[in-house]
Amino acid sequence: MHSKAAFIVVANRLPIDASVDEESGEVQWVRSPGGLVTALEPVLRDHHGTWIGWAGTTEATPGPVDSEGVRLLPVELSKDEVRAYYEGYSNASLWPLYHDAVEPSVFRRSWWKTYCEVNERFAEVCAAEAAEGAVVWIQDYQLQLVPAMLRERRPDLRIGFFLHIPFPPVELFMQLPQRRQILEGVLGADLIGFQRPLAAENFLKAVETVTEYEPKGHLITVDGRHVSADAFPISIDTEGNTSIASSARVTQRAKEIRAELGDPETLILGVDRLDYTKGIEQRLKAYRELLEDGSMSVPETVMVQVATPSRERVEQYRVLRHRVEREVGRINGDFGKVGLPAVHYLHQSYDRYELAALYRAADVMAVTPLRDGMNLVAKEYCAARIDDSGALLLSEFAGAAGELSGAYRVNPYDITQMKRRFMTAVTAPEEEKRERMEKMRSFLKEYNVDRWARGFLTALGVPESATDETR
Ligand code: ADP
Ligand code: G6P
Repeated sequence: MHSKAAFIVVANRLPIDASVDEESGEVQWVRSPGGLVTALEPVLRDHHGTWIGWAGTTEATPGPVDSEGVRLLPVELSKDEVRAYYEGYSNASLWPLYHDAVEPSVFRRSWWKTYCEVNERFAEVCAAEAAEGAVVWIQDYQLQLVPAMLRERRPDLRIGFFLHIPFPPVELFMQLPQRRQILEGVLGADLIGFQRPLAAENFLKAVETVTEYEPKGHLITVDGRHVSADAFPISIDTEGNTSIASSARVTQRAKEIRAELGDPETLILGVDRLDYTKGIEQRLKAYRELLEDGSMSVPETVMVQVATPSRERVEQYRVLRHRVEREVGRINGDFGKVGLPAVHYLHQSYDRYELAALYRAADVMAVTPLRDGMNLVAKEYCAARIDDSGALLLSEFAGAAGELSGAYRVNPYDITQMKRRFMTAVTAPEEEKRERMEKMRSFLKEYNVDRWARGFLTALGVPESATDETR
């Protein structure tokens, strides 16, 4: 019997996904996709907390496991729940709406019912696991009702909530049929964190418009309680990323990658979950036009596009995959040569070493989302550029654009401008690129994920010692 937890993170996903071998029944764990896991993993390791989340499977859910000092507590979801709560309400209703409705949201009443039930289950599991007065940090759009549900069960807890994705302008948020319930759910927290100040402002405005509460600056009084909403831009484990990138293994692999690609003069890299918010199609279009008008040519220039499989049963993701793969085929058909494709398209997950090697191999990193809460890939690329070389092309619609001022900024909706910026990034003098990269790298040294977590937890009123759980 283990003792109850003093520090708990609740997220839809555990940092590792379970897959159960059909024959042996053995559980195998693989790293889960996405920025939330990347950011929280080092935080939990430092604080020895408990992580409550879904194990990514609807087969027999494994029991709690200990992983590098972190207790992982899986929450079970049935197939129907995954369809309605995860693929439906979370990823077909909320995700597009919160990302500027770049794709239309689908609303179904049955999905909402399951979203409530699953949020309730997360709250129950957490209420049973938390020690008296524990600190609970709830993550992201899949669990927006958990703060209030948990408070109802356990008013003794200190509750934080962090939204990893943007919070939309009120005009868009108003479309959500359950807008009031969602806001009241989040307001169960003591502190609500956002990636950017604009997201916090949008949220406060939505509270003012939709609920009976009246925000005063960043504070909202809810039934006599003070709730605060503010920006806490997330980051990466800069030191860890830099040290992997400096390893002999990665240095060697980066050389191999360039050689395998035919030693191009310019290697352009994209690394994204295959998601319609990431602007992959716009990036490919710009690249195609640059090849068409002769500004770039193969094999002097080569693009590598890594597209991590994501949410593959959601219709809009299927459509996107089809479109991206058709466009890659078209570009290669028109501009590739035998053994020398113009775009290397990799629909796979990689370990941190291979990703770091790709970052080190790339001359230009293209991060061109139509809307993104932060975008950690942009930060990882900078952390990996240990000799201050390389250029980052970064969309102004990524949260990271507010911080990485050395990037070449692009508006991914403006293909002509994106083409120009691509050429600027490719042809800029080495000295200019170095200055830009240096600036971003020194920013990331200071503003790393540890600083993010400390900033949030301090604002939540948690003394540093309180999250060092002794179990
Ligand atoms: P999002 O959270 O929307 O996926 P981010 O850029 O913030 O976007 O985070 C993505 C994270 O997933 C990064 O830490 C990145 O290293 C990781 N990642 C992206 N593509 C892959 C891949 N093919 N294999 C493994 N990890 C990946
Ligand atoms: C984004 C979201 C996370 C999510 C991740 C991966 O980073 O903010 O909450 O975990 O994407 O998506 P997935 O649906 O695979 O969990």
